[in-house]
Amino acid sequence: MSPTTIRFLKVGMAYFVLGAFLGTLLALPVTREFLYREAPGAQWRLAHAHLNLTGFVIMIIFGIAYHILPRFAGKPLRSEAWAAAHFWIAALATAGMIIGFIVPAAAVLLWAGSVAQLAGILLGVANLWLTIR
Ligand code: HEM
Ligand code: HEM
Repeated sequence: MSPTTIRFLKVGMAYFVLGAFLGTLLALPVTREFLYREAPGAQWRLAHAHLNLTGFVIMIIFGIAYHILPRFAGKPLRSEAWAAAHFWIAALATAGMIIGFIVPAAAVLLWAGSVAQLAGILLGVANLWLTIR
């Protein structure tokens, strides 16, 4: 496995642990009330959903795709450099989005993180598309 695939898988699993932990806190009445009381305006459900979905599911899908699609296609990945850049964009954009969902005063992180997340998705899709075509 390439260093980029390993990074996608490890950071994806780390986001999964965080997402499952936050989900558990949101499921238990005591911790749920604490979170909503102590952080007015925090969108905890959206933070939980995106830790698990953009953080875990999508990172794992891309990590595996970067490894397996070139092998299915019998060709090298179009660009290892694009994939490496995509990892950093996805990892940081997800962190920005999560902080932006939780801290209303840091909404700029949600906006910047969202645009960056979209850019990372486009880069990843273009790379895989050009690999398998
Ligand atoms: C230990 C594991 C998990 C626990 C305890 C958990 C718990 C919860 C709870 C309590 C909510 C409601 C939150 C609220 O309304 O404030 C929720 C919502 C949600 N969870 Fe999880 N969750 C877990 C794992 C996951 C995973 C793995 C995914 C995705 C792959 C996921 C996706 C979602 C989504 C999308 C919502 C929002 C649903 C909606 O729009 O109503 N969760 N979860
Ligand atoms: C560029 C990437 C993404 C951005 C900027 C983004 C942003 C958002 C925002 C702002 C909302 C709240 C919408 C509202 O309250 O009206 C939302 C909801 C949601 N998103 Fe995303 N999202 C992204 C990617 C994804 C992906 C890849 C998935 C699934 C794999 C996903 C699953 C969901 C779900 C299930 C909800 C509803 C959660 C709820 O209401 O509890 N998102 N997203």
